[in-house]
Formats: sequence, structure tokens, C-alpha cells
Amino acid sequence: MTTIMKLNLKIWRQAGPTAAGRLLDYPAENVSPDMSFLEMLDVVNEGLLRKGQEAIAFDSDCREGICGMCSLVVNGTAHGPDRGTTVCQLHMRRFKDGDTITIEPWRAKAFPIVKDLVVDRSAFDRIITAGGYVSINVGGAPDGNTIPIAKDVAEVAMDSAACIGCGACVAACKNASAHLFMSAKISHLALLPQGKLERHRRVVAMIDQADAEGFGSCSNEGECEAVCPKEIPISNIARMTREYMRALMAPRD
Ligand code: SF4
Ligand code: FES
Repeated sequence: MTTIMKLNLKIWRQAGPTAAGRLLDYPAENVSPDMSFLEMLDVVNEGLLRKGQEAIAFDSDCREGICGMCSLVVNGTAHGPDRGTTVCQLHMRRFKDGDTITIEPWRAKAFPIVKDLVVDRSAFDRIITAGGYVSINVGGAPDGNTIPIAKDVAEVAMDSAACIGCGACVAACKNASAHLFMSAKISHLALLPQGKLERHRRVVAMIDQADAEGFGSCSNEGECEAVCPKEIPISNIARMTREYMRALMAPRD
């Protein structure tokens, strides 16, 4: 039997990048336990619009856990309380009737707030751009599949490729480090023969770009791994560090 819930929301409102922000109280009524967290926010926004008030700005796209657009800190945890789950896949049945829920944006210098719960994550795009393309022409999909790759290597590379670039790892880290994100991208390509050719240039360029964007360093806290919706392991960071050291000692092109 579905029990309709009533919740007390404390939501970060901020009119723009330089405006002062604050937590404001919003009651959420008629919340179904079957709603996703973002559907619950949609209902709150519909109520605000009916009253002639401005809707709460928040990011989303696929709502299926694959695009990395949703980015909410729920009760102090990036993506909320469910392990290995994006906030768009979090369901209201995880909460109890009468709960107070605090909703905030990612907080990091390199992810400036655009409005309310929306932050600018274009710094991640610039890191990826700095990493550049794989220049080897491997042909079409059938040609690519003829390159022999050991199963265990292919699986680790594929697991690394699961990173959706959401930025929760940065939001959870006390240093606002982008190491887990970068290490996933670097591991994915450095492990595969197609990506090995540019591995030295890639790792140095991406880490340099992260430094320029204002992300912090890694002090092995493990908070990134704990909140990552794709459960990217921090062993990738160790691999990235090895790649970086190897690149620094390699002869320059
Ligand atoms: S490593 Fe995980 S938390 Fe970080 S951007 Fe990728 S998917 Fe998101
Ligand atoms: S909206 Fe796409 S992962 Fe959440």
C-alpha cells in the first residue's frame, strides 16, 4: 500500500554566481514513496510555479543514472544515502514521513554555483579536452574488435569507462580533488593498446589542467570512492600516479 508522505525540505537558493545563498524551508506534500528524488523536486517546483514563485533550479537529463548531470548533496552526502546510486535514481521510499531533508549543490572552487543547485562543471570538460584524442585509427567496430585484449584488462578498462563525470567525487573530497574522475579516464585509455601511444602526454596534460582549474590534491581519504555512483575504486588513483611518474621519467617527444 502506498503511503503518501509529507517532508520538510531545506533547499539552497542562490540567485546567481555572485549572490549570497541560503537554505530556505519548503514543505513537500503528497510525496509518493515511488517517486524519484528529482520527481519529488518537480512536484515542489510545480507548486511554486502555481503560486507565482520562481522554480528551484537543479540539473538533470537522463534520469537513468547514465548522463552524470544530476548533482545534489542530500543530507550532507553527494547523491544521497544509497551507495552506487545517482540522485536521479534515489527513491523517496528511502525516507520517512515527516523527515527533514537538506538539499545543497556540489561545493568546490572549481565548480562555481550558477544558480540554486546548479553548478558549472565545465572544468571537467577542459580536463578531458586536455587529455585529447586517441590518434590511432583502429577502423570501424569490427576492426577494433580484432585487436587482442586480455579479458581481465578489458574488464578493468570497461569498469573505469563507467565514470559518468558527475563530479560527486570532487564534492565529497575535503581537498576538492578531481583525482578519482581523472584516474578513471586515464586508466580506461592507458590500459588499452589503442590508448597506450599517448599515455605519457595524456596524464601530464590532464593533471596540469586539473591544477589550473583549482582542484585540490589527493590525501587518500576515500570519500570519493564512497559516494561514486559508479563505484570507481581508488585503486585507479594509484594507477594514475604510476602513469604520471612513468611519464615524468620518460624521454620527451
Ligand atoms: S569517478 Fe565517480 S563520482 Fe567521480 S565523476 Fe566519475 S562517476 Fe562521478
Ligand atoms: S540525470 Fe542523468 S545520471 Fe542523473
